[in-house]
Amino acid sequence: MSKGTGFAKTILFGEHFVVHGTHAIGASLSTELNVTLSPAEELRLSIPTGKIVLEATRKILDSFGLHDNYYVEIETQIPSGAGMGWSAAYSVALARAAANAQNLFLDWRRIAEYAYIGEKVFHGNPSGIDNTLSSRRGAILFRKGEDPIPIELKNPLNIVIVHTRKMGITKELVEGVAKLRKARPDFFLDLMKKEEALIVEAKKCLEKGNLLRIGELMDINQGYLVQLGVSTPELEEVVSVARKNGALGAKITGAGGGGCAIALTKGKKEAKSLAEDIDKKYLVFEAQIG
Ligand code: MEV
Repeated sequence: MSKGTGFAKTILFGEHFVVHGTHAIGASLSTELNVTLSPAEELRLSIPTGKIVLEATRKILDSFGLHDNYYVEIETQIPSGAGMGWSAAYSVALARAAANAQNLFLDWRRIAEYAYIGEKVFHGNPSGIDNTLSSRRGAILFRKGEDPIPIELKNPLNIVIVHTRKMGITKELVEGVAKLRKARPDFFLDLMKKEEALIVEAKKCLEKGNLLRIGELMDINQGYLVQLGVSTPELEEVVSVARKNGALGAKITGAGGGGCAIALTKGKKEAKSLAEDIDKKYLVFEAQIG
């Protein structure tokens, strides 16, 4: 029996644009996904999943030179299809368990590389931010193909994560944005430049603890995501309710098209009270980053 763990994640700035070469900022969350691998006659998973999870599982096991005769027990509170990194946390946890099965002691970088094999099955053309966030603790500045830069937050961020209970399919959303880029290249490149400038400023604000400006930048980033066409009426509702109820800023986190929005609050107390104001039809998590 061998075990592995991956973390849930949240993207604070730059989802989608990061696939096309801008930086993005994200952080791992304390919620975990744990995998236990035990020998079995054939590949079986403890929860019902689609073909794609089986395919990702086979590819990751194969990359370690393992056959697929395993029972994979999955234990987690991370909702799937919600932009909180279920697939990345699964790929990381499975890669760690597979490494442990062979007594390989790999650092988070190597684990993230193996997990990327799974992410490609799940999402087609992922930037690599999700598997990187799921493999290590803390906040990072990320750019595709580069070593991530850790961000030292001046103050912890109190956020409320609201799941609209609708699934967003990352692969389709990423493809939709690629189509938009092809159809309107100038419009897209202009948005990319604005996003990159926003991220440079956001990193400084996170390091200085300028919460008010971080919130404003989240609102501006949400505007860009709306222009990419990845928002939904439910996400718009959550973002607007959060802002009306004292959030410093709110935006989609992850691919959108459903999934989750995040709202930044001044402190823990405010996060608690905002969480209570959100309609009970949605699923609410409070989290602290840093
Ligand atoms: C999904 O969590 C983040 C996206 O930017 C896709 C990616 O970076 O691979 C939408």
